[in-house]
Amino acid sequence: MLVSAKEMLTKAKAGKYAVGQFNINNLEWTKAILQTAEELKSPVILGVSEGAGKYMCGYKTVVGMVNGMLEEMGITVPVALHLDHGSYEGAKKCIEAGFSSVMFDGSHYPIEENIAKTKELVETCNKLGLSLEAEVGAIGGEEDGVVGGGEVADPKECKMIADLGITMLAAGIGNIHGKYPANWPGLRFDTLEEIQKLTGTMPLVLHGGTGIPADMIKKAISLGVSKINVNTECQLAFAEATRKYIEAGKDLEGKGFDPRKLLADGTAAIKATVKEKMELFGSVGKA
Ligand code: 13P
Repeated sequence: MLVSAKEMLTKAKAGKYAVGQFNINNLEWTKAILQTAEELKSPVILGVSEGAGKYMCGYKTVVGMVNGMLEEMGITVPVALHLDHGSYEGAKKCIEAGFSSVMFDGSHYPIEENIAKTKELVETCNKLGLSLEAEVGAIGGEEDGVVGGGEVADPKECKMIADLGITMLAAGIGNIHGKYPANWPGLRFDTLEEIQKLTGTMPLVLHGGTGIPADMIKKAISLGVSKINVNTECQLAFAEATRKYIEAGKDLEGKGFDPRKLLADGTAAIKATVKEKMELFGSVGKA
């Protein structure tokens, strides 16, 4: 059964480790992440962006697939199904469809509007026992080939949003989605430290986990980060392994064109990436 991310993140914050959110794109992705979490006895959060939700034929399809897998695969570790960077409408749809956790990303609104909308969702989520992530300070990333630097959140605004009763808070600390440019100055630990001081026990979320060096990840965890999002790194690993399979001509040997064979190396590469991250985040054996 799907669970809210609250308990796993409260434990992670207290135990100074982080739970990974791995974004899913299809059945192979979901299966690979769930298998790895079960093998490593790690709690896990499955992230679904609005685009990925649409690609997988809507949120109800996603809920059906994930619930089916939890049962058929005999998954015993805590699993949360979480909307990633949701709009207000998207969050409502996911709540109706049966997600156990949602993110409302109001970081692009003026702070008053972000507060008002987040507050409404806090009420709904609390009533239903779902976890809610809010965001302050937009996380940058590559858009149309232009790489924008990540914003740095205002710690006072972070406190205002945290005090609304959300479960976890994503704050921009110079992190961005996708690959980091060569001249990236790194995470703003000074800001993270201030946010952590003001928000106390609130689990903090680090987006853009792809390509952040291990020492920075460890330092972020020591400063209160207890959820780390990874997406692009699994996509790169999947694409590379699949490309190698085809370049080696394996799809032309025997029944190598069978999708169950064609996608096997890519799926194994996702598993290896997720394992590496869970070990780095310290969530292994914490289920
Ligand atoms: P990356 O794609 O950079 O790993 O970021 C994932 C993320 O933050 C999803 O919200």
